[in-house]
Amino acid sequence: MFKLRCLIFGCIIIFIQNAIGDLNFPKNFVFGVATAAYQIEGAWNESGKSESNWDHRTHFHPEQIKDHLNGDIACDSYHKLDEDLRLIRDLGVHSYRFSLSWARILPDGFSNRINQDGIRYYNELIDGLIAYNITPLVTIYHYEHPQALQELGGWSNPLMIDWFVDYARVAFELFGDRVKMWITFNEPHVFCEIYTKSEMSHGHVPYLCAYTVLKAHAKTYHMYKKEYFFRQHGEIGIVLDIEWYQPKTNTTEDIQAAIRAYEFDVGLFANPIFAKNGDYPTVVKERIAYMSALQNFSQSRLPQLTSREIKTIQGAADFLGVNYYTTYLVSESNSTSLESTYDTDVHVNLEGDPSWPGSETVWLKDFPIGIYNLLMFIKVQYDNPKVYITENGFSVIDMQDDARIHYSQGCLEYISKAIEDGCNIVSYYVWSLMDNFQWLSGYSEHFGLYHVNFSDPNRTRTPRASVSWYKNFIKSQKSKWQYIG
Ligand code: NOJ
Repeated sequence: MFKLRCLIFGCIIIFIQNAIGDLNFPKNFVFGVATAAYQIEGAWNESGKSESNWDHRTHFHPEQIKDHLNGDIACDSYHKLDEDLRLIRDLGVHSYRFSLSWARILPDGFSNRINQDGIRYYNELIDGLIAYNITPLVTIYHYEHPQALQELGGWSNPLMIDWFVDYARVAFELFGDRVKMWITFNEPHVFCEIYTKSEMSHGHVPYLCAYTVLKAHAKTYHMYKKEYFFRQHGEIGIVLDIEWYQPKTNTTEDIQAAIRAYEFDVGLFANPIFAKNGDYPTVVKERIAYMSALQNFSQSRLPQLTSREIKTIQGAADFLGVNYYTTYLVSESNSTSLESTYDTDVHVNLEGDPSWPGSETVWLKDFPIGIYNLLMFIKVQYDNPKVYITENGFSVIDMQDDARIHYSQGCLEYISKAIEDGCNIVSYYVWSLMDNFQWLSGYSEHFGLYHVNFSDPNRTRTPRASVSWYKNFIKSQKSKWQYIG
């Protein structure tokens, strides 16, 4: 069909048409919507849940949060499960991505004491989804662990590897009969670097964390394959925040800066798992070793992976989860600081182009071709892995949220084009079902398809215009196949 049209009209016209409107998602493509436990559940100290690192941070350091608020109640989803299940069903999505709260399941952090009410809650959620024919996609770790483990060093402590594996085993054992899609970690770059930076700027922490998390991920993957796969037959992957890094100018400095920004933020995690040669990206290893030497450290602040570890980590994922939000223009930094920090190591400036339409927050721009560029890049860089688009969304408060619809429609058009151009993308999840607690931004960013009234004790949910848009979009994609068969 494509070739025939090319002969008649000329390929360029078709290329443009395909890029801007003629969407062709495969028959089994999955459309979903996503949330995470701390951002929506509330009930922070109820029914046996212990304090998590985010409860602790928001209670003891409210100054780190833009509006000084917390997730104590959030959307109160813990008490509004049936209502939320109906919202998800009404959207017409095929899948719902949510996360488990480690502190709700294992209040002490360890697997010797399981909190039954936490298990009841997630069982009801999973069963409720399945009853509505919605497939659960479960994130085991979305930035949160019991504060008791933070006090033992959190992700800087390599013992977290086994504690995490034990926690994941509890999840597989109790939910794996019904959950067939698992994510070990959500956005390790964010919790290893950005969220540790707000507590202390330290040139060792992000890399110790990356090292521990990569090993915890791989060990969990192999444990699942060995102990559970033969009876549960699920898939297990990792989610990375992958923005598109575009050089600000054509100078060699800016091109190299863009490569560095990508390899530090993404490659640090993606390369060991998905690249042919495994290990950390060379540019990251060289740059940290160079800076560490200048700073008089006796060795690189990046812990080395042994050849055995490289082998264990390489290939340890059934899919790559991609969270795409924006595109950055990257330029070489002119800072001469020798401070031991991640930012000094990366040595770049990141900015948005002021001419691109913006959201209510400065970092997030509507530049949908960015997602196409990065998907094509991933295809080449990691030999066309299976990709789930695990998050994509835009923040605007308006009920008639045309800016969100414009953004999402644009991204979907470019995803469809990437599929046509050979990328192995199987699903797409909108972030987010409803407005929620946005970590350091508190409640100041509104990503919800549903608006939530946080001043109302009922936390009333009201559909924004994008609810009907998404619903119709999914319907129109699926109805095409009814005719084709
Ligand atoms: C990615 C994170 O996974 C999610 O928790 C967050 O709310 C969104 N980005 C929006 O910032």
